[in-house]
Amino acid sequence: MKINNIKKKFPIFKKKINGKNLIYLDSANSSQKPQSVINRMSYFYENEFSNVGRSVHTLAVEATNAFEKTRDLVQKFINSKYREEIVFTKGATEAINLVASTFGDKFINKGDEIILTELEHHSNYVPWHFLRETKGAVIKFSKLNDRLEIDPDDISKLINNRTKIIAVTHISNVTGGVTPLKKIIDIAKSKNIPVLVDGTQGAPHLKLDMQKLDCDFYAISCHKLYGPNGLGILYGKKNWLDQLSPYQGGGGMINEVKKENISYAETPTKFEAGTMQTAEVVAFGESIKLIDKLGIKNIYDHEEKVLNYGIEKLKRDNNVHLIGSPKEKASVISFTLKGIHPHDIATILDDDGVAIRAGHHCCQILHEKLGVPATARASIGLYNTLEDMDILYESINKCKKIFS
Ligand code: ALA
Repeated sequence: MKINNIKKKFPIFKKKINGKNLIYLDSANSSQKPQSVINRMSYFYENEFSNVGRSVHTLAVEATNAFEKTRDLVQKFINSKYREEIVFTKGATEAINLVASTFGDKFINKGDEIILTELEHHSNYVPWHFLRETKGAVIKFSKLNDRLEIDPDDISKLINNRTKIIAVTHISNVTGGVTPLKKIIDIAKSKNIPVLVDGTQGAPHLKLDMQKLDCDFYAISCHKLYGPNGLGILYGKKNWLDQLSPYQGGGGMINEVKKENISYAETPTKFEAGTMQTAEVVAFGESIKLIDKLGIKNIYDHEEKVLNYGIEKLKRDNNVHLIGSPKEKASVISFTLKGIHPHDIATILDDDGVAIRAGHHCCQILHEKLGVPATARASIGLYNTLEDMDILYESINKCKKIFS
């Protein structure tokens, strides 16, 4: 399968927006879906639908097998040691909430400290803030350097004997900066502190290897990974997941229920309460197959070409201010345009069929640091091309003319 022709595999690109071809540059927000994922969803509903993990009839067994097959695919995709380390959640947000809540219940007491960074998006801040409210935990924000990069030395300085966990993004959804995770994890390991990685932006672009990376938790958003909505993955080291209590109670996550007592299922089932997103999990297997067919390294290389081409074009324009200058960067170009509000930029670009996001990108802490309420963001997925960057550039020029 060739990445250059990949748009053809995504039916949304047949659609015209205001009479123009769709130039979709909002994949950091949510990615478009290939035909194979869409087909798998409808095939499942038409031919295979049943609840999983409960009944013994043929449909139920087949549905359960298809569901569990995706767990195997995910295990391989992220190279986790055990398939039990893969928990399906409603999204990356729920994955992080699950850890903050269950880890917090067990291991965090008044005055204990959690280290985050100024780059985190709200899903990797608000769940930890709950522990500030309920447990009196202290949140420390590691400061970014002048390039808006995460600095492992700064994180190291924040660690003390009250530090209970470090939670950090893999790739910033605003600057595109790639976090030097290995360094941070090594520092944390040397002090026995677990690390949660918010992989919402990392997973679609970078090769994942949980055993090599050696983080303790990794949260994945499937809808940003060309998969269905309403689905996320929590990777957790088995040793941690076994120690944590269930996040939600209900059907499916129990072993035995008595009037006096309840015992819970094993990891990961104890974290999968209620009827799961069955078709979504099954169809997500197709996203992984697509990425595997293209090769994540090829995807990264292709996106890097598109990204660098776009950045070089925008840099030529003195009115464009790029947000952050991380040395290692992937897939995201955030910018402001002199004298034009980002929402106006996004509206004018939309006239040309160019879909970008404007706003604080769920990163108000970072935008406060930048001193702006909003930025414009073009984010790149595997289907974007150099031509998309040309059209973005032309559309930005048009925008400037309208406001001049
Ligand atoms: N979905 C959010 C984004 O656009 C967090 O980056």
